[in-house]
Amino acid sequence: MQANIIDYGMNAEGVAKEDNFIFFVPNAIVGEKVEIEIKRKYKNYAQAELKSLISQSRERQLPLCPYFYDCGGCDLQHISYSEQLRYKSILVQKTIKKIAQIDFPVSATIPSDKIYNYRNKASFNFSIDGAGFYKQKSNEIVNISKCLIVDEKINKVYSLFVQYLSDRPAIRPNIKHLVVRAIDNQILVAIVGKKYIDCLDFYKVLKSHFDRIGLYLVVNARKDAVVIAGKTYFLAGVKQIVIQNFDLKYSIDLLSFHQTNINIQDKIYAKVLDYIHADEIVINGFSGAGLLSAICARKAKFVFGIEIEKSSHIQAQKLIKNNGIKNVKNILGDFNIEYKKIHKKADALILDPSKKGCGKDILRQIIGIKSIIYISCNPIALAKDLQFLKNDYIIEEIIPYDMFPNTNQVETIVKLKYKGEK
Ligand SMILES: C[S@@+](CC[C@H](N)C(=O)[O-])C[C@H]1O[C@@H](n2cnc3c(N)ncnc32)[C@H](O)[C@@H]1O
Repeated sequence: MQANIIDYGMNAEGVAKEDNFIFFVPNAIVGEKVEIEIKRKYKNYAQAELKSLISQSRERQLPLCPYFYDCGGCDLQHISYSEQLRYKSILVQKTIKKIAQIDFPVSATIPSDKIYNYRNKASFNFSIDGAGFYKQKSNEIVNISKCLIVDEKINKVYSLFVQYLSDRPAIRPNIKHLVVRAIDNQILVAIVGKKYIDCLDFYKVLKSHFDRIGLYLVVNARKDAVVIAGKTYFLAGVKQIVIQNFDLKYSIDLLSFHQTNINIQDKIYAKVLDYIHADEIVINGFSGAGLLSAICARKAKFVFGIEIEKSSHIQAQKLIKNNGIKNVKNILGDFNIEYKKIHKKADALILDPSKKGCGKDILRQIIGIKSIIYISCNPIALAKDLQFLKNDYIIEEIIPYDMFPNTNQVETIVKLKYKGEK
């Protein structure tokens, strides 16, 4: 049957409507007329497959990556970058309206300077005969030779490892993942195995190509999807990546949290700094390796950072010590427990939780703080949290940032102001 694509769904699929019945058509673009085949029919909607284009959108482009239609990594390479940005603003606006019943104008999505080779970290999956990324919603590996959205040095390490394994069939069944982090010509590599593997000789291979590189082995016997878990062995080379940014020198190790697109990270941090006032005491909840706390400390009177993960906390401590920052206190602990000990002193709160959002336990105790700057990597979790906050807070601004070009993911900053005592 034929369909006119009038909208995008939550997973960037095209949406068509006929008499209130909705068709979701992956890889179709708004404005296109398409031939579709229904794959699954439900009461009010159907999942359909795009069979052919009858009329094509001007925003359609040929995906650069040969694995695009198989690999679950990217979702938007067939759409022009300007349309990807437009889509992300619509996605954030619609999600907040649908879940939180808040109809607030969302700003244009802030673009990333690089839309390929922007990721500084990647985790490749291995099976007995496969290496690459998973298919969408599947554990089936799509074999790839390189990924266009990661830093080229990451691709080089990956291809060296695939070559290394092809000469060592005996260890292949024990390999689960290869994790590579590359920033400013410094690289950390972790081989994740089901059990201890003698792989120190891979360091020699790496060292013949890269100057500052370190190799770890992680023994992860878990059956779930967690990549880095279990005993970690440092094998050789550099242990940390040293970064110079915002006139600060700091380091991260294999485990500490770091944003994957530094260009967008910097734009987000600059915006957060804009929202902070000079005389404020700020709590940076979910503070990671502490860079944002240190940046905010330039303007704020004092900053508390709360971080649950020890290796990130240690890096945050080193950061303030090595840069002579006196008005930051990094607290190692759970936000839920630590916040209540310090909140009475604070004027502003930065929230940057993981994908699942804050949730009601955290939100219940923050109500009353004058100003909230919420950074989110998941519009659905963000919308649920905003629904909880909407009676007590006014939304002042919602800005999406394109942390992950060519994928369906988007980072969003929301600025909220307390309505005051009722
Ligand atoms: C999305 S990251 C943000 C890190 C930091 N804001 C940045 O930009 O690098 C979320 C951080 O929250 C930490 N975290 C998760 N749950 C936490 C909790 N209950 N209390 C404190 N920190 C938590 C994680 O370890 C992680 O470092």
